[in-house]
Amino acid sequence: MAHCLICGMQIDPFITFGKMPIANGFLSADEFEKEFFYELKAGCCSWCHMVQLTDHVDPSRLFHENYAYFSSISSSMAKHFEWFADTVQRDYLRGRDPLVVEIGSNDGILLQHFMQKGIRHVGIEPSANVAQVAIEKGIHTVCRFFDEITAGNLLKHHGPVDVLIGANVFCHLPDMHSVMRGVQRLLKKDGYLIFEDPYLGDIIKKTSFDQIYDEHVFYFSLSALSFLFSQYGMEVIDVAPQEVHGGSMRYVVGRKGIHTIKPEVYALMAQEESMGLTLASACDGLRERIYECCEQLRRLLQELRQQGKRVVGYGATSKSTTLLNFADIGPDLIEYISDTTPGKQGKYSPGMHIPIESHQRFKESYPDYALLLAWNHGTEIMANEQEFQRQGGKFIGYVPEVKILG
Ligand code: SAH
Ligand code: TYD
Repeated sequence: MAHCLICGMQIDPFITFGKMPIANGFLSADEFEKEFFYELKAGCCSWCHMVQLTDHVDPSRLFHENYAYFSSISSSMAKHFEWFADTVQRDYLRGRDPLVVEIGSNDGILLQHFMQKGIRHVGIEPSANVAQVAIEKGIHTVCRFFDEITAGNLLKHHGPVDVLIGANVFCHLPDMHSVMRGVQRLLKKDGYLIFEDPYLGDIIKKTSFDQIYDEHVFYFSLSALSFLFSQYGMEVIDVAPQEVHGGSMRYVVGRKGIHTIKPEVYALMAQEESMGLTLASACDGLRERIYECCEQLRRLLQELRQQGKRVVGYGATSKSTTLLNFADIGPDLIEYISDTTPGKQGKYSPGMHIPIESHQRFKESYPDYALLLAWNHGTEIMANEQEFQRQGGKFIGYVPEVKILG
């Protein structure tokens, strides 16, 4: 029986996806035989209502010197992080010679903006290959996992932190109590923890169940996070919904009683209550909708194959590992997946072993249909692929519903 990583209560999964490979584990043919699988299951804690995985993969299997995800691959994400950095600088950096620390700084997509302005900064990034890209840009990066010990070392070498940032990383941290002890030690008395992650409300509303995979240990709501922070004398003082990653939430957190809580926090709390996110039944109904989506998509792809249509995948996302494996969509239904990341090209998708090809291949011979696996970048992709659509090509979406898009 699994236990909640936040409050220790017993937790039952609301969905079991069965055996899953590592979501970002793109591999070569000679690695098929030794591919690693684990049980992917998610549950909602009946006591603190934190939605989370109930079986976990050791982080060292996920984040290492061959990590496949380079943040700077998307131009819309680059813009997003430029705005994020501007917001932090404008609204939260005060005093002389402030220090910004980012957890999960990847290839430096965010920190580069602080570096360029001469602001003191440190990135904490355990995946050596992406950390190296940041280091080559001149960004001060420490190749380590963030936890209480790393926080202690940072404090010793750099002093207390004005703003601690995390983008798409807090939900990756299974030992949240060690992380929070670290945050408590590191932050100045009036410092801020600012982080954003995919938002549970969006996942439920859009049935974007492909967000459920090994790296995403938690699916945050404001209410469940508030319970966690209250144990460390901290509170959420502002929230701001973000469009990235299919619907994210940015949380600004401070020590209790130091900052004014913005009305947006109370409004989101009320919204979560009305959506039922503050209940143990938060994810009820999701399981049925997941099954329905997978069945519909599989049926559509089978029909297209029977009609002799060529279908490829667009974007070898880690998310798509859950979809493709659970819906049993393999190379018989998807010819290949187009992806712009050089390190993924020439490899195969985890579990289903669909070949990953360059975007050049896509452009050279357009297929009839492209399954939009990187649906969270849909606007950017559709804008860039007008020629494909002009030549009669169509995208297939599956979030929030299975649909042939114009
Ligand atoms: N912030 C970037 C990267 C998100 S991917 C963005 O939003 O695009 C998550 C990143 O967190 C990976 O680069 C991974 O190596 C890193 N990571 C995972 N566990 C970590 C930990 N305990 N401490 C710091 N970084 C971690
Ligand atoms: P993303 O959806 O950001 O992440 P995750 O892996 O967390 O699910 O991944 C986007 C992937 O899609 C990445 O491998 C790059 C690829 N991609 C393209 O191939 N073309 C594009 O135009 C864009 C925006 C992304």
